[in-house]
Amino acid sequence: MAKRMTARGFLERKERGEKIAMLTAYDYPTARLLDAAGIDAILIGDSLGNVVQGQGTTLPVTLEDIVYHTKMVERAVQQALVVADMPFLTFQVSAEQALRNAGRLLQEGGAQAVKLEGGVDVALTVQRLVRTGIPVMGHIGLTPQSVHALGFRVQGRTAQAAARLMEDAFALEQAGAFAVVLELVPAEVSAEISRRLHVPTIGIGSGAGCDGQVLVLHDMIGLNEGGMLKHTHRYAEVGQAIRDAAEAYASDVRASLFPSSDHATSLGPSEPDVLAAMRRVEKRHQGQASDDDVEINPYGGSR
Ligand code: KIV
Repeated sequence: MAKRMTARGFLERKERGEKIAMLTAYDYPTARLLDAAGIDAILIGDSLGNVVQGQGTTLPVTLEDIVYHTKMVERAVQQALVVADMPFLTFQVSAEQALRNAGRLLQEGGAQAVKLEGGVDVALTVQRLVRTGIPVMGHIGLTPQSVHALGFRVQGRTAQAAARLMEDAFALEQAGAFAVVLELVPAEVSAEISRRLHVPTIGIGSGAGCDGQVLVLHDMIGLNEGGMLKHTHRYAEVGQAIRDAAEAYASDVRASLFPSSDHATSLGPSEPDVLAAMRRVEKRHQGQASDDDVEINPYGGSR
């Protein structure tokens, strides 16, 4: 069996120049498949608000939601690093609050690391978690929890915005983050940040210069409603496959083509006794049972 990935293993990958492949998962069966496929890290992202709960943003996702989904993922995973996202307002209020909540994700959820959004502003919180022994992955660029302030658009396009991103990345590294997600950052800017940091950068919509990549599983397997995002590549059409399967099933049921005799169990030699016993029950229900009819008690014995 391959060695389990760790936060330290992320750094070793960067030192060796080996790319890191990360995906999101929210339940046992998909996490089991991703782990078996050799994915390095599985993120229980607050994107579950969008792709699992059907919400418009990630803001309604709660710590309880992430704990619940992390438990399922963790049970399935043997090799990947399990990273749990910290939802909106579970780490911004104070470092104490962040520590308690990150602790729950490790203690109750079984995660091995947490991810949180923000740069300079959350550096002291990151430091507090790291010093308590909780590996932290940073997340800068487009940070969906700030959608009402930033919108859903590429970040770091101007000199000032790119310099701020560089500050954020350095602040996270100095605070002890073991990796930094760069979401929707221009390729040149993310490549420059990746060259300057010692810890790996994990890009999403940020070009090939990052040390690793992450995608939201539902986007890359076609299980999402709506159009495809520019930064996503469809590796499968699972949504279409599920729909085709459901349509074929409904059509077979309506045409009495499913189930066939292959899908059912037959009685065999006991058939006459069984059917006779059933007929006696039917007669009794119709008030036609004679005194010498002995009825089999369905719960054992005769009466
Ligand atoms: O919530 C999430 O899935 C994420 C990834 C897009 C990085 O934060």
